[in-house]
Amino acid sequence: MFKSKSKIVMVLGLILISLVGGYLTLQRKKTEKANVSKLVESLNKAFADEWLAYYQYWIGAQIVSGPMQSEVIAELKEHAIDELRHADMLAKRIIQLNGIPILEPKQWYEASNCGFLVPTDPNIKKILQQNVKGEQCAISAYKKLLETTKDTDTTTYQMIHEILANEIEHEKDLLNLLKVL
Ligand SMILES: [Fe+2]
Ligand SMILES: [Fe+2]
Repeated sequence: MFKSKSKIVMVLGLILISLVGGYLTLQRKKTEKANVSKLVESLNKAFADEWLAYYQYWIGAQIVSGPMQSEVIAELKEHAIDELRHADMLAKRIIQLNGIPILEPKQWYEASNCGFLVPTDPNIKKILQQNVKGEQCAISAYKKLLETTKDTDTTTYQMIHEILANEIEHEKDLLNLLKVL
């Protein structure tokens, strides 16, 4: 009698443990899914920034005018290529995470962290200053992303680390040009 009672208690205990285990796994999966979709959203914001940064440099290189024009144009074009490469890296990572990179260019403005500074003045210093602002914004956005991913996603962390190093270099290049103008 005692034996069968304790057996029932044991079985009930096991059922309870397995139910709690299942519930916790489900909750963990839900949290992981929510975290990944939040990360994809942040990566898409950075993706929008990169396209706008690409255009900021590209259009700046077309219209800029002033001293050292050819050196500045070469630098702006080089940075534009880097920004496009960053957009490419971000799109690939978003897809790896089962997300979709922003499909419509008009959403770039809405999603962007850093926006776009319309280069109405082609003065070489003004153009460079606008690009410095863009880089400073990108650096702070990537630093936040680095913090978000450092303990949770090594692949994204390493990619952001690489992009951030480029943005810091870009800012330095622009500030050096502004110094000699
Ligand atoms: Fe970039
Ligand atoms: Fe940059």
